[in-house]
Amino acid sequence: MSANWDPQQIPDLIGKVALVTGGNAGIGLSTVKHLALHGAKVYFTARSEAKATKAKESLLSDNHGLSADKLVWLRLDLSDLNSIIQAAEELAKKEQKLDILVNNAGMATKETEIAAAGWEMTMGNAASDENADVRIVTLSSDVHSKFLPADYPFDFTDPGFLYGKLPYEPEEYVSQKQMFSADVLHYCMAKLANVLFAQELQSRLDHFGLPMISTSVNPGMVETEGSVGFFSPEMQPTIRKMMVSPNKGSHTSLFAATARDVSMRPDLYKGKYLDSKEAKEPHVVSKDKEQVGAFWDTTTKEVARYLAKCGFVPLNEW
Ligand SMILES: NC(=O)c1ccc[n+]([C@@H]2O[C@H](COP(=O)([O-])OP(=O)(O)OC[C@H]3O[C@@H](n4cnc5c(N)ncnc54)[C@H](OP(=O)(O)O)[C@@H]3O)[C@@H](O)[C@H]2O)c1
Repeated sequence: MSANWDPQQIPDLIGKVALVTGGNAGIGLSTVKHLALHGAKVYFTARSEAKATKAKESLLSDNHGLSADKLVWLRLDLSDLNSIIQAAEELAKKEQKLDILVNNAGMATKETEIAAAGWEMTMGNAASDENADVRIVTLSSDVHSKFLPADYPFDFTDPGFLYGKLPYEPEEYVSQKQMFSADVLHYCMAKLANVLFAQELQSRLDHFGLPMISTSVNPGMVETEGSVGFFSPEMQPTIRKMMVSPNKGSHTSLFAATARDVSMRPDLYKGKYLDSKEAKEPHVVSKDKEQVGAFWDTTTKEVARYLAKCGFVPLNEW
């Protein structure tokens, strides 16, 4: 039963190469820890060397079974196109394949697309291994369906959604807005984008016969700097009591990235949104093929336009 799964059931990952974005803190740091403890070589991204060094030192001092060569820092700032391209190139230089990609860092839709496309070749090489079991895990959140109503008039044919244009503030959000100190409505859109990205990526992987499994996951309410900071100072003490530790918060990501059940019963998991290690229904717009297709097309067109503007080679069509 997936509900009883915990990281002790992670299979032997010796020989596997993993990449966890935003691996220096919170859920990402715990994800890095468990993948490395089970033998994977884990590239973890952090925006600065100081943060990476601090994270690596804490992992090594808290986990005596971990060896330093399992943890490799990649500098990555998802808001900087140069940084994304440099990270992808550095990884491609160092590794022939990538078995596990965890898109964990808090990020906007456009950066997610660029990052995934940049690593496409290394994932492809891993998929050509005889015993390939390639996973791409994208962190979403259940807020995407809590605050965006079923009849919200999305129009993903219009690139406005990538620039923060929203139809209106839904009542579900307005009535709870005072609880937050962050712009949670745009965060909901980004987390919906993560669901649609993982789902559409899967259908394209299937179309090209690439044996990889793409999922999106909700980690639950996890006590991290980022998530506590979402709430107003008055709410924070109450919210903290409702949250689980980052270690527990990494379980659904780790399940999606490594559990045998996922490769043994792929139809249960491919392209799905996982909550508490089980496939759940995400926002109903995920069933609207035209909108999901428009989301992918508009995003890739905007990324291509931006890459050209910055003088970079465009993404391959697929
Ligand atoms: N915690 C929750 O309750 C919860 C619930 C649902 C979903 N999630 C999702 O889970 C993921 C991890 O969240 P968390 O709570 O562990 O957050 P966190 O502790 O705040 O860590 C976020 C990580 O992402 C990195 N990051 C943020 N923006 C970045 C950028 N532009 N470029 C590169 N790296 C960037 C951060 O780097 P710095 O250290 O440099 O800032 C940090 O390593 C996120 O995708 C979040 O949306 C979390």
